[in-house]
Amino acid sequence: MGFQEKVGTALITGASAGIGVEYARQLASYGYDLIVSARRADRLEALAEELAENHGVSVDAHPADLTKRSDVEELEERIRNESELVILVNNAGFGVSGTYISRGVENHQRMIDVHVTASVRLTHAALSGMIERSRGYIINVSSIAGFIPVGGGPGYAASKAYLNVFSTNLQSTMPRFIRVQALCPGYTYTEFHSTDNYHGNEREVLPRWVWMTAEDVVRYSLSKLDSNKVIVVPGFKYRVLAFLLRTGIGGVLMALRGRFLGVKERA
Ligand SMILES: NC(=O)c1ccc[n+]([C@@H]2O[C@H](COP(=O)([O-])OP(=O)(O)OC[C@H]3O[C@@H](n4cnc5c(N)ncnc54)[C@H](OP(=O)(O)O)[C@@H]3O)[C@@H](O)[C@H]2O)c1
Repeated sequence: MGFQEKVGTALITGASAGIGVEYARQLASYGYDLIVSARRADRLEALAEELAENHGVSVDAHPADLTKRSDVEELEERIRNESELVILVNNAGFGVSGTYISRGVENHQRMIDVHVTASVRLTHAALSGMIERSRGYIINVSSIAGFIPVGGGPGYAASKAYLNVFSTNLQSTMPRFIRVQALCPGYTYTEFHSTDNYHGNEREVLPRWVWMTAEDVVRYSLSKLDSNKVIVVPGFKYRVLAFLLRTGIGGVLMALRGRFLGVKERA
């Protein structure tokens, strides 16, 4: 049974902006009831209103800061009590500006908390119920950066590499009715490159053709949800890049990119 054939509830983290909002919109358009989570409650409430009005689905806003263990545990509890949960999207995430040293170790810790710890815990909370109901989808929003061995963002790249390995390995232990996806987008137009943590110059220096829209990224993710693919890369150019990176050749390209974006430590 495909994810569109019998709908239920989907829980999306990082649903106050960008890719998360787009998952909420597209899943609501299929008739999914939603639990949307992020820190900015006002945005979640506005999204809930919009989707309830446009699609007649029930949308519950669940504010949470995934760097806080108590908030993550509340969300875990929420997931365990949600008898119709079909889809969990671990999407919340962020980048941090500067070099590894200048970023400050707490930023790296928060990134691991949000990208890795929260995803592992929420997935764990979701799977028992999904297995009991013989149906479930876990989408971990990773990144093409998870394949990048060099060129800046060691903490970010490693946290996304974790999600890729975690998802692939997890799928191998699951019955066929559970599908796990690690979505690996490249540059996508969202708020990611201009947040409190991250002020990148990518929007100015990178050509338009490298960018994708959140709408296309999410549409591609959902189109592959019932396939056997775990690692899902939206956009032909990024699939070629991912292939090169996974064979090792792309490391050279990425080293050049690191120089281009000025991510070297200085003495
Ligand atoms: N945009 C890209 O180029 C790109 C490329 C590859 C992968 N990705 C990945 O895509 C995912 C979504 O990012 P995006 O591009 O949509 O960026 P975005 O527009 O900045 O959205 C990020 C979302 O994550 C939430 N978030 C951040 N920190 C959080 C925390 N401590 N607790 C709870 N929620 C938190 C934000 O909500 P609040 O601020 O309201 O908490 C927001 O809803 C991320 O995992 C990112 O790594 C993005």
